[in-house]
Amino acid sequence: MAANKKLLMLPGDGIGPEVMGQAERVIEWFDGNRALSFDIDEGLVGGAAYDAHGTSLTDETMQAALDADAVLFGAVGGPQYDDVERDKRPEAGLLRLRKEMDLFANLRPAMTYDGLLDASALKDEVVRGLDIMIVREATAGVYFGEPRGIEELPDGSRRGVDTQVYTDEEIRRVAAVAFELARERGGKVHSVEKANVMETGVLWRQVVGELHQAEFQDVELHHMYADNCAMQLVRDPNQFDVIVTDNLFGDILSDCAAMLTGSLGMLPSASLGAPDETGHRKAMYEPVHGSAPDIAGQGLANPLATVLSFAMMLRYSFGLGEDADLVEKSVAQVLEGGIRTADIMGPDARQVSTEAMGDALLEALAKQAG
Ligand code: IPM
Ligand code: MG
Repeated sequence: MAANKKLLMLPGDGIGPEVMGQAERVIEWFDGNRALSFDIDEGLVGGAAYDAHGTSLTDETMQAALDADAVLFGAVGGPQYDDVERDKRPEAGLLRLRKEMDLFANLRPAMTYDGLLDASALKDEVVRGLDIMIVREATAGVYFGEPRGIEELPDGSRRGVDTQVYTDEEIRRVAAVAFELARERGGKVHSVEKANVMETGVLWRQVVGELHQAEFQDVELHHMYADNCAMQLVRDPNQFDVIVTDNLFGDILSDCAAMLTGSLGMLPSASLGAPDETGHRKAMYEPVHGSAPDIAGQGLANPLATVLSFAMMLRYSFGLGEDADLVEKSVAQVLEGGIRTADIMGPDARQVSTEAMGDALLEALAKQAG
């Protein structure tokens, strides 16, 4: 029997704890019914950690994340923290996790479910069958580049500085992840930058092209400018399979891709580090939707993105593709049964609470598992 997997849960703020509660029920179901077992530990992050400890992530929790086999993250942030200084803000905890765990490859799938096409602002025929994987570099670029800051000039005016910086290795390793994923999917990568105006973009294009030549000629590669990519995502999203891009463009384009589906409450993500000697990657899994403070605590939140993030964990951290499929099929079954949380409510559907969505999911899991 394999050793128990060490799982760290960081529910965070807003709807984070509610959606995590339902994911925990699913995890317990796997613990009881399938071949793998979990040791679950829980910690504070974001505003919740700030309220308790005056920082958005303590060193102890950071260490627990480094020691875990995988981290499941809820969401951070809320208006009550708007005036907190930047290095203590809820978002800083998330950025520290990414940086210190070296989670450079942020996988953000965007896919539509046939039953939810109404939820998209775009026409059915444009978004039907959508299945895009955005691979966002997440530990470098303008998010972390130095120098940065706001300085006062001799004449009393102020100047803000951020630095966009990438090494060839930082580009190569994230591009390799994108090419490998494409091999398992549609066989196509769009590499996205602004080589027409940025030096990092020129280097990005060169490095991705060289890697493609050397190791991934079987994958179709396109280079695209980021502004054009934003436009193409809305015009004809089905032309994309895997998109690989830098930290800031990835932040923006992944929100755009997420909204194509119309159901932010359905979208999971994975953040992966480099494989160690045993092939294991440090990893954190997180719903895309954020903390949604306006609906927190009301039983309205959709737990499916968090549950689907757990499915990504099964697939990418533990190599349990069949178990991941089981979760994904159960989610599809629940949706086909017309069961919806408020965010994805449609004409002939039945609206349920966060908890009742968890109930429906457990029922579907039991059925799918036979
Ligand atoms: C995201 C978020 C974060 C980011 C914020 C919360 C720091 O927008 O994960 O996309 O900008 O990376
Ligand atoms: Mg974002």
